[in-house]
Amino acid sequence: MSLTALDIQNWMVSQLGEQLGMEPDEIDVQEPLDTYGLDSAEAMILASKAEKLLGFDLPLNLLWLYPTIESLSERLAEEILEKSQQQDGDNRGLKLENNALDLNAEVVLDQSIDPLKVPLILQDEPESILVTGGTGFLGAFLIQELLHKSKADIYCLVRSSDAESGKNRLLQNLQRYQVWEEEYGSRIIPVIGDLSQPLLNLSPEKYNLLAAKIDTIYHSAALLNYVYPYSVMKAANVLGTQEILRLACEVKRKPVHYVSSVAIFESTAYTGKVVTEEDSFDEHQGIFLGYSQTKWVSEKLVKIASSRGLPVTIHRPPLIGGHSETGVSNTEDFICLMLKGCVQMKAFPDIDYWLDMSPVDYVSSSIVYLSQQPESFSKSFHLQHPQPIHLSQLVNWISTLGYDIETIPYEEWLNKLQTSACTPDNPLYTLKPFLLQRWTEEQLTATEIYMQARRPAEISCKQTLKALEGSDIVCPPLDAKLFGKYLSYLLQSGFLTAVS
Ligand SMILES: NC(=O)c1ccc[n+]([C@@H]2O[C@H](COP(=O)([O-])OP(=O)(O)OC[C@H]3O[C@@H](n4cnc5c(N)ncnc54)[C@H](OP(=O)(O)O)[C@@H]3O)[C@@H](O)[C@H]2O)c1
Repeated sequence: MSLTALDIQNWMVSQLGEQLGMEPDEIDVQEPLDTYGLDSAEAMILASKAEKLLGFDLPLNLLWLYPTIESLSERLAEEILEKSQQQDGDNRGLKLENNALDLNAEVVLDQSIDPLKVPLILQDEPESILVTGGTGFLGAFLIQELLHKSKADIYCLVRSSDAESGKNRLLQNLQRYQVWEEEYGSRIIPVIGDLSQPLLNLSPEKYNLLAAKIDTIYHSAALLNYVYPYSVMKAANVLGTQEILRLACEVKRKPVHYVSSVAIFESTAYTGKVVTEEDSFDEHQGIFLGYSQTKWVSEKLVKIASSRGLPVTIHRPPLIGGHSETGVSNTEDFICLMLKGCVQMKAFPDIDYWLDMSPVDYVSSSIVYLSQQPESFSKSFHLQHPQPIHLSQLVNWISTLGYDIETIPYEEWLNKLQTSACTPDNPLYTLKPFLLQRWTEEQLTATEIYMQARRPAEISCKQTLKALEGSDIVCPPLDAKLFGKYLSYLLQSGFLTAVS
C-alpha cells in the first residue's frame, strides 16, 4: 500500500464529515478531533474504518497521542512506510511508543508546598471537610459516611458552571447510588473548581477563604480511564494531587486523606512477592497503563508532602465493587462492563485471574474510620479483599443463574471478542482496543498483564485489618449471596437482561 499522509488526511476528513454530517471544508485538520464532539463509540467507528483501509490494528489511545487529523495522518503514513520496508510483512497492530517515560523524573513536588510554614491545628471534630470526587462512585459513599460519622459541613470540589448546578450534580449522584438523605442537604456545600487547573481554578480570594475554612481533606477525585496515556491524565491526577497538597499547606496545615490504588504495585518487580502496607513502592518498570502510572506518581507526591511534615493517611483500594447491602454498583466501571460483555458474548476467558474486589461501603467506611484514628497518620492502608475469589468461581455462580455461558481458552476468547463485539450495544466494543492491544515487549494483552503470574503473590492487608479491629467494620465475603445482590441490582436497573 502506498498511502501518503495527505491521502490519509483527505480520507479522514471525508469520513469524519460523513459521520458527523459536516462539509469537508468545515473540518480543520489542525484542530484536536475532540473539538468535533467525537464520542468514544464514534471514535471506534472511525478507527475500525481506518483499520480496514490500512490493514493493521490501531490502538484507541492513538487519538490522544496524535489528537489532530494532521498529526494522526503523518504518524499512520510513517507506520505504512515502516511496514512496507519490513521483510516479514509484519501486519500486527501499530505499536505505541512507551516513550521512555521516566516516572521517577515526574515525582517532583513544588518546593513552595511547605507544611511547616503554617500552623498545625488538628481538630478531633473537624467543622469543615473538603471532599474531592463527590460526583463519582466512591465519592458518594465517602460523603455519606462523613455526614454520618462527623458533624462537619462537607465542602465538595465539583466541576460545574455555578453553585446551583454543582449542588445538583452532587445530589443526583447521591440519589443514583441510593445514599441521598434529605436532612443532610444543608451540610453539602459545592465548591466549583477543577483539579487540573492551578489553584483548582479558584480565584485567589476564594482559594484563600477555602484554605482558611477547611480543617481536613479527603482526596478521592481522579480521572479513571484505561486508554488515555499518562500525558493526558497527568493534569487531573498528578498536578491535581499537587494542588490539593498545596491547599493543605496554605493558611493552616490540614490533614490529607488520599485515595490511592493497589495499582502502585503493578511493576513486575513485585511479581510473586508479598507486599505490605509499609513497604516502599519505588519500582515502576512494567506499569503500562497511563492511569496506573499517574496513581504511582501521585502517591509519591503525597509521600513527599508527608516527609515535609504534612499529616497524611493513604488508602489503597483494589477494584471497588457495589454496595454490600443494596447491591448498587457503578455500571460504567470495568467489572460491570466486562461482566455484561462476556455474558453477551456467551464466553468468559479461561485465565488464572483472582478477582480482588472490595464492596464500596467497606472501602468508604474503612477510609473514614482509619482517617479518624490519630495513630493512622503517615500510614498506608490496603483495602484489599482479605479473601479474593478466582474468576472461575464467579463464572460458576453466573451460570447457575441460568445464563448460557462457557469458559473458553484465552486466545479463542480474544478471537471471539474480535469478531463478535462489533457493535456499540456490546460494552466490550469500546474496550476492544484496550483488551486487544499488545502492551508489552512480550506482546502481552492487558488481561495477561493482570493475570496472577505477573501479580504480587499477595498484597497483604494484615496491618489494615488490625487497625480496623476497634471498629465494627468487616469486609463482606465475596460469596454467592453478595453476587446475588449485585446481580439483582444489575437486573433491576436494566443493565443486565434477565435469563429468558
Ligand atoms: N473504582 C475503582 O475500582 C478504583 C480502584 C482503586 C482506586 N480507585 C481510586 O478511587 C478514587 C475514586 O474512584 P471512583 O471509582 O469513585 O471514580 P469515578 O466514579 O470515575 O469518579 C471520579 C471523580 O473524580 C472527579 N474528577 C475527575 N477529574 C476531575 C477534575 N479535573 N476536577 C475535579 N474533579 C475531577 C470526577 O468528577 P466529574 O464527575 O466532574 O467527572 C468524579 O467525581 C480514584 O482516586 C481512583 O483512582 C478506584
